[in-house]
This record gives sequence, C-alpha cells and structure tokens, in this order.
Amino acid sequence: MNQPKRYLITSALPYANGLKHIGHLAGAYIPADIYVRYLRAQKRDVVYVCGSDEHGTAIPIQAMKEGTTAQAIIDKYHPIIEQNFKDLGISFDIYHRTSSPLHHETAQEFFTVLNENGDLEIKETEQYFDEATNTFLADRFIKGTCPNCGYESAFGDQCEKCGKSLSPDELINPVSTLSGNVPIKKSTKHWYLPLNKHEDFLREWILKEHKDDWRSTVVGQCKSWIDGGLQPRAVTRDLDWGIKVPVKDAEGKVLYVWFDAPIGYISATKQWALNNDKDWKPYWNIKDTKLVHFIGKDNIVFHCIIFPIMLKLHGNILPINVPANEFMNLEGDKMSTSRGWSIEMDDYINDWIKKDNGGESLADVLRYYLTQIAPETKDSEFTWKGFQDANNSELVSIFGNFVNRTFVLMHKLCGGKVPVFHNDLIDDADKDLITHINQTAKKIEALLEEYKFRDALFEVIDLARKGNQYMQKKEPWILAKTVAENPDNQKLIDNALHICLQLTANLTILINPFLPFTAKKLLHMMKVVDKMLEWQNAGRIDLLKVGYALRAPELLFRKIEDEEITFQLEKLKQKSTVNRQSSTVKKVEETKSETPDLKSEIQFDDFAKIDLRVGTIVAAEKVEKADKLLKLSVDLGFETRTIVSGIALHFKPEDIVGKQVTVVVNLAPRKMRGIESNGMILMAEDKSRKLHFINPDTKVDEGSGVS
Ligand code: 2FM
Ligand code: ZN
Repeated sequence: MNQPKRYLITSALPYANGLKHIGHLAGAYIPADIYVRYLRAQKRDVVYVCGSDEHGTAIPIQAMKEGTTAQAIIDKYHPIIEQNFKDLGISFDIYHRTSSPLHHETAQEFFTVLNENGDLEIKETEQYFDEATNTFLADRFIKGTCPNCGYESAFGDQCEKCGKSLSPDELINPVSTLSGNVPIKKSTKHWYLPLNKHEDFLREWILKEHKDDWRSTVVGQCKSWIDGGLQPRAVTRDLDWGIKVPVKDAEGKVLYVWFDAPIGYISATKQWALNNDKDWKPYWNIKDTKLVHFIGKDNIVFHCIIFPIMLKLHGNILPINVPANEFMNLEGDKMSTSRGWSIEMDDYINDWIKKDNGGESLADVLRYYLTQIAPETKDSEFTWKGFQDANNSELVSIFGNFVNRTFVLMHKLCGGKVPVFHNDLIDDADKDLITHINQTAKKIEALLEEYKFRDALFEVIDLARKGNQYMQKKEPWILAKTVAENPDNQKLIDNALHICLQLTANLTILINPFLPFTAKKLLHMMKVVDKMLEWQNAGRIDLLKVGYALRAPELLFRKIEDEEITFQLEKLKQKSTVNRQSSTVKKVEETKSETPDLKSEIQFDDFAKIDLRVGTIVAAEKVEKADKLLKLSVDLGFETRTIVSGIALHFKPEDIVGKQVTVVVNLAPRKMRGIESNGMILMAEDKSRKLHFINPDTKVDEGSGVS
C-alpha cells in the first residue's frame, strides 16, 4: 500500500464554556486518539491537534451566567478541560487555544486572503438588534421557537432539541437572550462566504469522490445540505468578543466563531511546529498529507462543506475523511449538561480514577465501554449497567483473566521465565492459535484504517477469548500433576505457556491504541520497553525471548460492584432533579415578580401597522413529527387561511374547532415543517404558563377588525 507521507489528525475544538461530558469524549476524542496511537505505532509521521474554542456567543453567555467576564470563563475552563483529556489518556500533540495571538493572526490572514481574492461578498442586511443592550443578536444571543420542531428555546444558530441549523430570521417569536426583550431590526454590513458558488466542487468532491469511503451518515447529511440549496453564509458578526475583522471599516465586527475555530487546527499545528522546531506547512499544504477531522454529527456541515471551501480558496489541502459520530444518549435520554442529564469527564475522573487504587485502569474502562458502544453508524446509549457489564464480563473475565492466568501459571509451572517452545510437540491447537494471532492483527489493522473502531476492539477481546479457550483446552495445571510420571508433560506445559505469553505480548500491542494505561502495565509486567508496541511486531510469536524473567502479575481490572452503579444512577437522578428544581425556582421567581419586564415604548404608528382580525377555526390537525405544532384552517370572512401555531401541547385539535380567535393577518408568511403559515393567532399566557385564546365576548362576524 502506498502510505501517505504524513498525517494531520484533528479533534473538534470544544468550547471553553463549561465542563465537557462523556458523549463529547466518545464522539470526537476517543476515536481520534485510538487512530493516532495506532498511526504512531505504525511509525507514521502524525500530528494530533486540538484546543479550546474560545470565541462565539457561547462564552459571553456563560460569563453572564457565572457573573464574570468572557476572559475569566475561558481561563477557568481551558485548563480543566485540557487536564480532563490528559487524565483520560487523550494524547494530543498540542492542546492550543483560539484566544492565542498566533491564532488571531492566522485567522485574520486567512480572512484577508479570501477577501482580497474577491472570494467573499459584502452585504448590507437587516438583523435583529436589542435596543436595551445595544447589541446585534446573532447566534446564541437570540432565542425563539424552532420552526422545525416547535421547541421554544431554540438558539439563533441551532435548535438544541432537534439539531436543525437555524438563522435568527427563522425563529418564531424571537427574544433577546441578553435582556429578554423583543428585538427590532436594524441594518448592518457583513462579509459572506458564497457557499452556493461552490456547489459543483462539493458535489464532485463529496458525492462522487468520497461517496463510498466516507461514512454514509456523513455523505447523507452533506447531500441534504447541498440538495437543499446552499446559501451565502455570513462569516462576520457584530460582537465585541472574538477576532477583529482585519479591514479598515469594520469597527465592532469580529469573525464568526465557525470561521475562526477550524482555522484553529492550523494555528495549533503552527504552535506545535514552533514548540518542536518543525515546519508546519507540509501538514497543510502538501497533497500527500492525510488530513482527518474527528467530530460529532452536529459539526458535519462546518467540516465537510464550509471549512473545505475555505481551505480550497486559501490553497490548503482538503480532509481525506471526516469520520463523524452520531450521538450517544444516556440512560434513555439525550445527554445534556444544562439539563443535568450527563456524566462530565471531570466527574468521572473524580469518582472513578482519583478515588480508586490504581485508578488509571478506570480511565481505560471508560475508553473501552465508550468504544464498544461508539455511535459510529447510529445513535447509541450509555447505561451504567452496560458499563459494569463491559468491565466485569469482558475486561475482568476475558482479558484480565487470560493475562492473569498466563502469568500466575508461568510463575508456578515455568519458574517465572518465558519457557522454551518445543517445535517437535507442536499440535493443531497451537498452530490454529498462532495463525489466529496473525490474522487478527491484520484484521484489526484493516478495520482501524477504515475508522471502524468498534469492530477492531471486538477483535482484540475476541483474541483474548480465544486465548482463554486455548488455555482451557491445554489445561497446564492438570498436566502439572503428572509431570513426575510423564516428563514430556512439562514440555507441553512449556509450549502452552510460551504461546500464551506470546499472545499476551500481541494483546499488548493490539490493545495499546484503545487502552494505553493497560498496555503500559503489561509492558511493565513483561519487563519490555515501549518499542515492542510498534505495529510491525503485531502477529509475531517471538516477541518474548526464551528464558527471560517476567514480573509478577498485576491486577489489570477490578470488579465493579452493584453498589457503585446504584450510586452513579442515584447521582444522575439527583443531579437532573437539582437542575430541574433550580430552573423551576427561577421560573417561580420570574412569575412572582410584580413588575414584569415591559417591552420598550412604541409609537401609535407602529401599533397601527398590525392588522388584527377575528377569525373562526374551521379545522385543526397535528403537524407530523412536531409535538408542539397544530395546523389550523381559520375562516377570516374574506378568505380561509392556513396558520401553523405552537399550541399543540395546550389544546386538542377536536376541542378548538369552532372557536373564535384573534389573528395577525398581515404578518409575512413563514414556513414551519414545510407548511406555509399565513398569520399568527394571539394567545394569553397565564402565570401557570397555560395558554388562552383572545376572543370577543360574543360571537362576531369573521374578518371583524380588532383595534
Ligand atoms: O461544537 C463545538 O463544540 C465547536 N466548538 C466545535 C468546533 S470544531 C472546530 F471547527 F474548531
Ligand atoms: Zn427544533
């Protein structure tokens, strides 16, 4: 096989706005780390970069929550996240920061090249603006109802419930997250990357060139973006937190976080090169470099569509693959730090690694389980019971048990040294196992090259399982009872343990990318150096020299008790209850407040622009796959209109037919779930958040005006 000269591997840069959970870890970090450790064992030239994403509205929002500054937030979370990754064995070559001057320079240079080459468009548009805080409301500074699923707290860039990418203009009933006010529209100028101009390139590159070697989930998502019609995308924002737009008349404007963050991979490489006296350029500019982005599925559009266009325009190489993972749920629900339904890496480390004797092996247990259930092709589910089973039934009972038996018996029956192999006594079981070791090493290599980490890990454990079966068949402990009468039995014992020891050495090489702490322990037990881990050694059965004295076995994995699992389940329940309670407390406090936050004053003319009419609901039905939306037909006298309303949780369709309602009839039409809505029904919300129609005290003609 023609090997690429070098590899540049990236894991998504996590926002430094809070602790990261094990779903993140499973999605973008563990698979990348396995791949990188494998490449290093193959002695390939590989650089693995990551770092904190420190811009965007997520950071100042967290600062508001914690009553501090954006700078303080990134300075608090960057080192914690970095340490958490280290404790879990994620072996970045550099963990950089997008707040670094080097990154600011790199991102500005990138923007300047595109701008000066005429690859960006400048447009003046009307955008939401919060008068109370004097801020344009981009991304997470604005919230509203998701037009896709009806979720009421969708952000201006994405709905966290259904995952749909949004723009602020698509939100229904938008409000500022800064003040809670309803925003106005104000004109502003921005730079846009015209994605639409690159459609042909994307079709050719993703849908043709990579249609078979990229994951079908990734190609599928790209296809639906491309088929859905690519639009110019703003790459600047009116914000005071971020990288200044490097153009004279761009006061108060910064680069969009999703423009600067992926460039963070390049600046991280530059910093790594500076630290190691290397040249960064070949990693980004020469075609025989293999660039691979490891991400979660919510980042696909940025890594497969937007960033590649930027790279192409800037003259860099493109990723060879983007093995994005789907999501990992937790105990039957979506993982979410804000809802308290998550296991933070930090919590796991404190509860399992720091508290335990020899706790590092517990880092490997998590790595093992998260790989075993990796959401490579579809969403998967973490359960504490599954975690316990993976440890007790596989790591302890299969892998640990095989190694332990081998070492104990070698000390007991072979004097603590690698016994000689008597070729004249080789039998079919020996031959089968030797062939199997060799074939498994090749199989694992092929699977890793294709980013199939789950299957590759299965093969390692299966090989250990085969080791146990072999041992069971050979029964050296039984042979030992009759050595005195039959001296050849010692030779059979030697052969069995020789092969089991060579298998242990192979298991060490093969498990190393997945469970590096365990591999290290095994090296110590075998008294061999790291060099043995080189991948070219996998499949060999002469790794341990005859007569070489080995150490006593160490416990690789300990049993996990039921009480520990019950404790974690209880903790999870408590945590989510605490979070629910605190948000309920907040809501109650909000409702108690005597003077509500009134919207800012308007002139009569503003009000007069709104055309309000009474109508009668003549038909109502649920909107498919949108639990909050009802599709209504409203008779307005002069016509019957279709209106989609987010009231499905409050009213049954059959109960509201015949009701009179007040309708804003001159609101611009909006599409929700593919249905065009031509108006808005006015509702009153009482203190308990129940909705009520606003209707005349007696039935009036349809179309009657309201003023
Ligand atoms: O989704 C996220 O958490 C982003 N911070 C990922 C950025 S990846 C890259 F582009 F930097
Ligand atoms: Zn949604």
